[in-house]
Amino acid sequence: MNFTFYGHACFSVRTEGKTLLFDPFITPNEQAAHVNVDQIVADYVLISHGHEDHVADARLIANKNDATVVSNFEIVSWFTSRGIKNGHPMNHGGSWKFGFGTVKYVNAVHSSVLPDGTYGGNPGGFIVTSGGKTFYYAGDTALHMDMKLIGEYEKLDFAVLPIGDNFTMGVDDAVRAAEFIRCDKIIGVHYDTFGFIKIDHEEAKRKFAEKGKELILMKIGQTISL
Ligand code: NI
Ligand code: MN
Repeated sequence: MNFTFYGHACFSVRTEGKTLLFDPFITPNEQAAHVNVDQIVADYVLISHGHEDHVADARLIANKNDATVVSNFEIVSWFTSRGIKNGHPMNHGGSWKFGFGTVKYVNAVHSSVLPDGTYGGNPGGFIVTSGGKTFYYAGDTALHMDMKLIGEYEKLDFAVLPIGDNFTMGVDDAVRAAEFIRCDKIIGVHYDTFGFIKIDHEEAKRKFAEKGKELILMKIGQTISL
């Protein structure tokens, strides 16, 4: 499984011959100015919730690649009414077997409105199982007790958690989240993009390490193998 970070909470996972792109927010992100959005490949675009910093480039990339947008019913309906050809609506607690593996849409504690003010349904996260591996992307969320259910029922190889604080959980709660989901390899997202979410990288890594966990903070444009 190849994992590429595109800044903020945008990343792609290449698995089973398909590319899954999550929460595309590239062109408005000054820190991702060196990423050429026209070169991003996606077979699926998975969207956790409706906020601008998670959907900004979704339509552009989905249409260019003929990709399928996967999100909650409200967000997929909004995109299909705006010219997206392929959408797969889900809702909380539901799973679907795609060609590359299984996706489950799970709870997040946050808000969700689309850029034009349309109701974006309840925000979520995803559990993806593909190619013999399982990972969890929490989306924008507070720490919540339902994460313990994920730890009980899934064996996660890695998880993608927001760590920037203010709009989502911060580092201390993300360490607790890693304990709830029983996962030792965490990729941090949703930090440093705006003034409210700047973090101390070394302190964050140390706090995870103190609990026997690895926090991976990637460079924008970097790809790692997981
Ligand atoms: Ni948000
Ligand atoms: Mn956000």
